[in-house]
Amino acid sequence: MICKVSFVVFVLFLLGSSSNGIPDSEVKSICSKTQNPAFCLSLLGSNPSATIVDLTQHVIDIARGNVSNTIKLISNLIAQSGKNPKAKEHYKACLEHFGEDGALGDVDYTQELLHKGDYQGVNLAAASIADDVDDCISGESPTDPSFNDLSPLPSHAKVIESVVAVLLVLSKSLGH
Ligand SMILES: *[C@@H]1O[C@H](CO)[C@@H](O)[C@H](O)[C@H]1NC(C)=O
Repeated sequence: MICKVSFVVFVLFLLGSSSNGIPDSEVKSICSKTQNPAFCLSLLGSNPSATIVDLTQHVIDIARGNVSNTIKLISNLIAQSGKNPKAKEHYKACLEHFGEDGALGDVDYTQELLHKGDYQGVNLAAASIADDVDDCISGESPTDPSFNDLSPLPSHAKVIESVVAVLLVLSKSLGH
């Protein structure tokens, strides 16, 4: 009898742990670890059945959309900077930092690692996305000449950095 009861309890536990999402209070606690909790909460929304893996997937999708949009923007900026070699050089460097060998490739890598369940890897790959974005905006080394960018690119970069900040905190909560 005791054996039967504990089996039922065990099955209920399995059902509970595999289908229940994380409560709003945990989402709040995750977002409180970011610099902009309100942005984080709006990004994660309120989805009672979502697990941390689901939320991480959601944020990776947003990051991919944002990076793709930014690549389009940079391509347009390159096309428009015909008579300004300094601008063209800056935007060409940014295109590399955002492309397959940069931010876009790292977003895909977070996806691959999430599927594999390598949560620490997700965290490291997310950090690389932030580095790629920073390399575009600030240059790869402190001695790089700064470019006074009046295009929407710096504000796109800020959005991506905020999205990545959420991804960093989420991926730290994965597997705990
Ligand atoms: C980033 O993605 C979000 C969600 O899809 C969207 O609302 C926002 O406009 C995007 N921002 C950029 C700069 O692509």
